[in-house]
Amino acid sequence: MQPTYTETYRPQYHFSPPQAWMNDPNGMVYFEGEYHLFYQYYPDGMVWGPMHWGHAVSKDMLHWEHLPIALYPDALGYIFSGSAVVDWNNSSGFGTDNQPPLVAIYTYHDPKGEAKGALDFQTQGIAYSLDKGRTWTKHTGNPVLPNPGIKDFRDPKVVWDKARQRWVMTLAVKDRVAFYTSTNLIDWEHRSDFGASLGAHGGVWECPDLFPLTAANGTTHWVLLVSINPGGPQGGSATQYFIGDFDGEKFTPQDAKMRWMDWGSDNYAGVTFSDIPNSDGRRILMGWMSNWDYANQVPTTPWRSAMTLPRELGLSTDATGIHALTSTIVDEIDALQGPETVLELKDTLRLPSHQIRLDFSLPKTQDWQLSLTNDTRETFVVGASGDSLYIDRSNSGDNSFSTAFAKTMKVPLDGITPHHLQLYVDTSSVEVLINGNQIVATTLVFPTTPLLQLATTNIATGSYRIIQRVWDSLPSSFDLGKKTLTFK
Ligand code: FRU
Repeated sequence: MQPTYTETYRPQYHFSPPQAWMNDPNGMVYFEGEYHLFYQYYPDGMVWGPMHWGHAVSKDMLHWEHLPIALYPDALGYIFSGSAVVDWNNSSGFGTDNQPPLVAIYTYHDPKGEAKGALDFQTQGIAYSLDKGRTWTKHTGNPVLPNPGIKDFRDPKVVWDKARQRWVMTLAVKDRVAFYTSTNLIDWEHRSDFGASLGAHGGVWECPDLFPLTAANGTTHWVLLVSINPGGPQGGSATQYFIGDFDGEKFTPQDAKMRWMDWGSDNYAGVTFSDIPNSDGRRILMGWMSNWDYANQVPTTPWRSAMTLPRELGLSTDATGIHALTSTIVDEIDALQGPETVLELKDTLRLPSHQIRLDFSLPKTQDWQLSLTNDTRETFVVGASGDSLYIDRSNSGDNSFSTAFAKTMKVPLDGITPHHLQLYVDTSSVEVLINGNQIVATTLVFPTTPLLQLATTNIATGSYRIIQRVWDSLPSSFDLGKKTLTFK
């Protein structure tokens, strides 16, 4: 069977693989007019398995063209998460002065070493492409970063350190991150470790990202993202962040407070695109819209998982000058949205679609609530009660596949006064944004029919915009390269 994008629960304006299992976004890089999204992919199954890098490209991060698998497992192991950069100066020597190579930096996970009970079965490898990411050649000297005897040693994210004219790799190492530097992407030198006694430690640290970000007041700070599983605020997986300074060797956080990038249960392993041109200047993140607590069981077929909408990260300050991360859905989404329809919020009303953006003004001095319900009384609820928000999906549809799925999420307001609520609903997910970008919570839902009845308490004004499907003009087949995929 070809993917039709009419399958039950298939997202319409979020990225999902044509079929089979997907997890983390990998190697996100912008090059010559294309956003590249690679992703952890097991093309032969519906649950996690030997990892490949799947591949898609897009001009707007919303319409994606599926491309052949980019990286296959080899004698050194499965291809785990990592990043990709444009090596503009050909520092690696893989390209030429006129043709900068794309270089992917990823983790090799050797299943044989793991089975033997060894500790050093995760190493870092690199590969390059000279044809806009279409084909990749693995470096003959892999691994470029051998394992020092630590079981969790993975997910390299590489960034160009402009001030020092060298590459910086951030690596997740069990309960901390390690920073390495290199002048050629091949030889790496360990510089420092961060985080063993800071942040959340309910699980292993994974998929870090380190990048500079400029605040509205013009000051530049370094942001360090670290995913953690388990130990997230809603159980299972989540992404925490730190803001501070990076001097080329060491990261120093602004304070010791623990912060979450997304308060929902379904945004994991998110990292940012490399090489978005300075003329654009945005730092854009996409995350895996799932949670290891139930990712292998969600009731979708013939694919599993989707990515979050792309989000532009920013920095806001509070009264004391301390910075926090903001997440704004990228402007590209505007091109998909229909005209605004203003809502009279007196009675329950019926929405025309469940691919929709909803916007509401919130009362500043009262608790409020909004619910989306279907004809069989399955309901998704979001509301404010005192100094926190709640998001209740405990009766939002199919939750039979895992006892970890049905839940009410609590989100502390932490001094933020909500005045605006925005929901991006797409078939089987809801992204909740407070004040445009100050609090974000991403949640999966599996209603058996669309949640179209809208009811509100203490919310007087609102509007919606239908988001048009982006998969209407599908290619007739998906050529995934030398692996033959049978569409059953
Ligand atoms: C995060 C993760 C990474 C790893 C990959 C394996 O979800 O566990 O740490 O590289 O998935 O698929």
